[in-house]
Amino acid sequence: MKIIVLGSAAGGGFPQWNCNCRNCNGVRNGSINARARTQSSIAVSSNDSDWVLINASPDILTQIRANPALQPARGKRDTGIAAVMLMDAQIDHVTGLLMLREGKPLPLYCTSAVWDDLTGGLPLVHVLSHYCGVQWHMLAVNHTAAPVELPQIADISFTPLSLSSKAPPYSPHREMPQPGDNLGLVIEDRKTGKKVFYAPGLGEIEPHVLKAMHAADCILVDGTFWTADEMIQLGFSKKMAADMGHLPQSGKGGMIEVLDAIPAKRKVLIHINNTNPILDENSAERETLAQHGIEVAFDGMEITL
Ligand code: MLT
Ligand code: MN
Ligand code: ZN
Repeated sequence: MKIIVLGSAAGGGFPQWNCNCRNCNGVRNGSINARARTQSSIAVSSNDSDWVLINASPDILTQIRANPALQPARGKRDTGIAAVMLMDAQIDHVTGLLMLREGKPLPLYCTSAVWDDLTGGLPLVHVLSHYCGVQWHMLAVNHTAAPVELPQIADISFTPLSLSSKAPPYSPHREMPQPGDNLGLVIEDRKTGKKVFYAPGLGEIEPHVLKAMHAADCILVDGTFWTADEMIQLGFSKKMAADMGHLPQSGKGGMIEVLDAIPAKRKVLIHINNTNPILDENSAERETLAQHGIEVAFDGMEITL
């Protein structure tokens, strides 16, 4: 299987339009060694021409232009995007659906909780019904749920894992998190048996999550924040990383410590917020990651397993 990282930044992208933090300023004026990044999304394929888009970022059109593999040009109108699968209903992961409205009805794989948000607090599904429309395939999140297979994506199975996290700020149930608000995903190549554990928003390492991480050959996880109070320290927000459903990399019980105990060959951080010092490739924090064998995803990164 092949995974293309279409977008590696968290909500807002990098640089964020209205931000003048050290990183955003630095990448704009070239004073730091960093690359710009679009908002978090990956594409997965087993044949390099039919892809499942995992999360639909508001930057999807830029991402498609940057990745010709997503346009195999088999007809006058065509797309390599065979289906869309959502990990949550956050704005940075769903609003790209609107940009796909000129195409055929979109097969959309998401949980009931996410579907409720997309037909309620952020009714994209109703809006799209006046354009291409969507075909909902419900992702179940109970522990006996079978792996999901998609018709066009041969030999790859997708197993959703329910994560204890947060619903989006606009969600009618934002104060009452529900199973299925946030997913992790085990992506398995059934021919080779290789597995990727994917979770761009991961706030808590629950036992079933740890088990899936241990069984994976490659980990592609939440790299949003370096510190638990990063947004507060910079004066940008009153929210801690945990309030937003993100586990920071540094500190006791942080992502570095978690990943240190995992045998996976590749450990890659994705969904990186523009404030995170790891975006500066010359930073001490980036060096620390390198010492722990942890990579930082970038737009266009390919992972083949
Ligand atoms: C998040 O991952 O916490 C959100 O995407 C933040 C946002 O909406 O920008
Ligand atoms: Mn996000
Ligand atoms: Zn910034």
